[in-house]
Amino acid sequence: MMHSVAILGAGIGREHMLGYRALPELFTVQTVCDRELERAEQLAALAPGCGAVSGIDAVMDDRKIDIVDICLPPHLHGPVALMALAAGKHVICEKPVAGSVAEADELMAAAERAGLLFAPVFQYRYGRALYQLAGLQDRGLCGKPLVATLETHWNRGAEYYAVPWRGRWQSERGGAVLGHAIHIHDLVTRFFGPVTEVTSLLDTRVNDIETEDCAAIAMATDSGGLVTSSVTLGGATDSSRLRLIFDALTAESRRNPYAPGAEDWSFTARDPQRQDAVDAALAEIDAEIAGRPTGFAGMFLEVSNHLNGLPADLVTVEDGVRSIELVAAIYHAARSGERVSLPLDRSLQICADWVPEDEAE
Ligand SMILES: NC(=O)c1ccc[n+]([C@@H]2O[C@H](COP(=O)([O-])OP(=O)(O)OC[C@H]3O[C@@H](n4cnc5c(N)ncnc54)[C@H](O)[C@@H]3O)[C@@H](O)[C@H]2O)c1
Repeated sequence: MMHSVAILGAGIGREHMLGYRALPELFTVQTVCDRELERAEQLAALAPGCGAVSGIDAVMDDRKIDIVDICLPPHLHGPVALMALAAGKHVICEKPVAGSVAEADELMAAAERAGLLFAPVFQYRYGRALYQLAGLQDRGLCGKPLVATLETHWNRGAEYYAVPWRGRWQSERGGAVLGHAIHIHDLVTRFFGPVTEVTSLLDTRVNDIETEDCAAIAMATDSGGLVTSSVTLGGATDSSRLRLIFDALTAESRRNPYAPGAEDWSFTARDPQRQDAVDAALAEIDAEIAGRPTGFAGMFLEVSNHLNGLPADLVTVEDGVRSIELVAAIYHAARSGERVSLPLDRSLQICADWVPEDEAE
């Protein structure tokens, strides 16, 4: 079955549009909504028959729309997702899916109650090297997760922060931990399992903003894996790197910041005699994934599979909630100096709101 989509927000919404256009037999983009109508019209022009509107209500009232795809500034994600679910629409939502753990929980409950899909956007999972690593793990060739190092070393300056919603607690809801490293943190949990413990140091050292732009984070996952994550927005270039050490295999990315799985990774067996088995498995996996779309199209294909009752490699609403819970835990650990366990105790104030008191409206 073909699904009809409304894209809300014409910034990164443009990349979403290209993703849907790569799957014309599965999706039609019915409407683009942006409060700057001209931006909506320009993006709508990329899809045949696509309309443009400036008001969100018009999308909610349109019975022809099956899926609302939220590409709006972060503080609007939760409220607009709740409106869409109440209007009977499936939701695809850009990161961060919510501005607090309480809001993420509310979204999950609302989607479950309505029997509708809430799909968080973590398109980095959908890349060739990540498909390969998942295939190796499924075949039992990785072994037990031991340690991982993650780098999100990007370059963001005054021009980036000239967009008014960025860099402010009330509208961006967080800094590099919430906005940038959230992708790589999602990726590591895909292979090492959910985070169970966190310690962190955060600082604002690059830009004159309210939120953090440097971080040193240590995490343990439910598989026993130990993860260190280094984050800054003061890199000379945009570079992301992952090194995942399992007891039977080491997987290492290159430095592609926005699609880490798009470039070849190295997969090295710890026992040199097992390298042939790894290489043979990689050849088999490559044949299986030939032609599988990547990035946003890769993610949207799985959304379509799920909605059509087919097996789907989906980012779940639970993954989305966990991504927000991890952000809250990182903030809590940095502010308290404590080691924080997850799942978080929902009675903690940090679950209600992590915006520092002196920044609250
Ligand atoms: N997955 C990724 O790789 C990725 C990359 C970039 C941004 N993002 C996320 O996407 C979201 C949007 O980021 P962006 O960089 O596209 O921002 P942006 O500011 O470039 O675009 C947001 C758009 O939303 C519109 N808008 C704002 N309020 C509106 C309202 N009330 N009604 C209708 N339209 C409204 C704005 O006019 C703007 O065109 C953020 O949450 C960001 O974190 C994700």
